[in-house]
Amino acid sequence: MGFPVHRPRRLRQSPQLRALVRETRVTPADLVLPLFFNAAIDAPRAISTMPGVFQQPLSAAAQAARDAKKLGLGGVILFGLPKAKDARGQSGLDPDGPVPVAVRAMKDAVPDLVVITDVCVDEYTDHGHCGLLRSRPDGTTEVDNDATLDVLAQMAAVHAHAGADIIAPSDMMDGRVAAIRRALDAGSFEHTPILSYAVKYASAFYGPFREAADCAPKFGDRAGYQMDPGNVREALREIAYDEEEGADMLMVKPALPYLDVVRLVREGSSLPLFAYNVSGEYAMLHAAASAGMIDLDRAVIEVLTSIKRAGADRILTYHAPHAAQLLGA
Ligand code: PBG
Repeated sequence: MGFPVHRPRRLRQSPQLRALVRETRVTPADLVLPLFFNAAIDAPRAISTMPGVFQQPLSAAAQAARDAKKLGLGGVILFGLPKAKDARGQSGLDPDGPVPVAVRAMKDAVPDLVVITDVCVDEYTDHGHCGLLRSRPDGTTEVDNDATLDVLAQMAAVHAHAGADIIAPSDMMDGRVAAIRRALDAGSFEHTPILSYAVKYASAFYGPFREAADCAPKFGDRAGYQMDPGNVREALREIAYDEEEGADMLMVKPALPYLDVVRLVREGSSLPLFAYNVSGEYAMLHAAASAGMIDLDRAVIEVLTSIKRAGADRILTYHAPHAAQLLGA
């Protein structure tokens, strides 16, 4: 008993009926805005590869918090550009570094804004890797997993102390969730949740971010710690280990080229799930729109809807302010 009894078009005939039966809806509260705070600048600095995105001076933090609140965003996630870098990322542990200072200013200005901090050493190391380096016996260099854990744990504690609501490690070292949990608990931050970038691929789509956060590796690549794009079963192992270590929330990153992974992780875990609509995904839409190839407003909402439809509860996205305006914030 198909056509003419069944006519799916019945439910598509007006905006009201379409709205009534719409399965997935994006709201501003679903969106988390990444922000870059640079300790070495006094005025916003445009990021050439990400139209509309800026590195911000620390003096802009309070206003950024008020803006995010006014748009009704779910929260913000902070990245820092320090004044100085070294091999061990020591400036990342400075309580007066860009992230702790920005967290304090934002929480002072808007106490009920959710402020997440990215924990990773790549923004603070002169070599740009997400971990400390060591030489192998054969003279080549590797990222030293276990030595990095200690720095990550200390950085997490510094961020929590500054007032961060959620700690989000993005380095992909094994064991970092457990190390960070221990350090937070030891510092009486047992109520500070960890949002683990549990499933993070070695992706070409991070290109523009590396200009934004000035963290491109000076040699080699991140394939020795980030996941291989061909793998999906491995995502289930990563989430199982992170759950065991005490992750409170999970992230899949990037989003668009990995929507199948978002769906799989959604079905494989009951933790809240975030997806990161990364810099290259943002740049791609802007490039196509400025070449007259697509309608930016429609594409932004369609992309965000697709990520949520795939199973993400919340989305980290540079489109957040634009999308919130389109959604009538
Ligand atoms: C690492 C980090 C990266 C991103 C977020 N955290 C870059 C990387 O892993 O190379 C990428 C975010 C984006 O591309 O928007 N600290």
